[in-house]
Amino acid sequence: MTTGQCAIVVLISGNGSNLQALIDARASGGFTISAVISNKADAYGLQRAAQAGIPTRILDHKQFPDRESFDQQLAREIDAFSPQLVVLAGFMRILSPSFVQHFSGRMLNIHPSLLPDYRGTHTHERVLEAGETEHGVSVHFVTEELDGGPVVLQAVVPVLADDTRDTLAARVARQEHLIYPKAVSWYAAGRLRMKDHAAWLDGQSLGSTGVREYSQ
Ligand code: GAR
Repeated sequence: MTTGQCAIVVLISGNGSNLQALIDARASGGFTISAVISNKADAYGLQRAAQAGIPTRILDHKQFPDRESFDQQLAREIDAFSPQLVVLAGFMRILSPSFVQHFSGRMLNIHPSLLPDYRGTHTHERVLEAGETEHGVSVHFVTEELDGGPVVLQAVVPVLADDTRDTLAARVARQEHLIYPKAVSWYAAGRLRMKDHAAWLDGQSLGSTGVREYSQ
């Protein structure tokens, strides 16, 4: 690790396109990726990490009797790398309260909706069914409330009349890959913190939607 750089550990479960965006941005973003940990052995993101020379770990949740014991071991694996920030990038696990508390204020997640709307799964399908005209993606600090922590940064995209689930998901994904490295670089530069259950950037509380960016 380069002295003075913010070290992060990235948790994944699948494709890892957000991980790839972080890998591509790490030099210019002022952070290093100490390790990538997946709960799925076949996650394609593990190959992306290996190609970038980043250490990988697989921790299969099915090998543990319960959520608590898996999360305890996961916390140990993360702590072994002493990261300043834990970055959830498509890590599809519900986290136990003790795990969340352990990393409180130093764990970010990306969720494909304009939080607090459309928490949970299948966000693109639900947005289309509801006839929304706007959709997007949110980066937020992780708290015990599922998809409920303070929002840091949102990208808003239009929902077009002829959108399918896949065209909408692709439009959102392009923005994911821009805003996640940006939020991590803010944290790495010491500009972004969580305080009093709010996200703060440059000493200002960001309110319920965080910083909002609009794109086509
Ligand atoms: C991303 O779209 C991310 O927003 C979503 O999983 C996908 C992972 O893609 N996360 C969630 O739904 C979390 N609730 P990736 O593996 O290609 O980065």
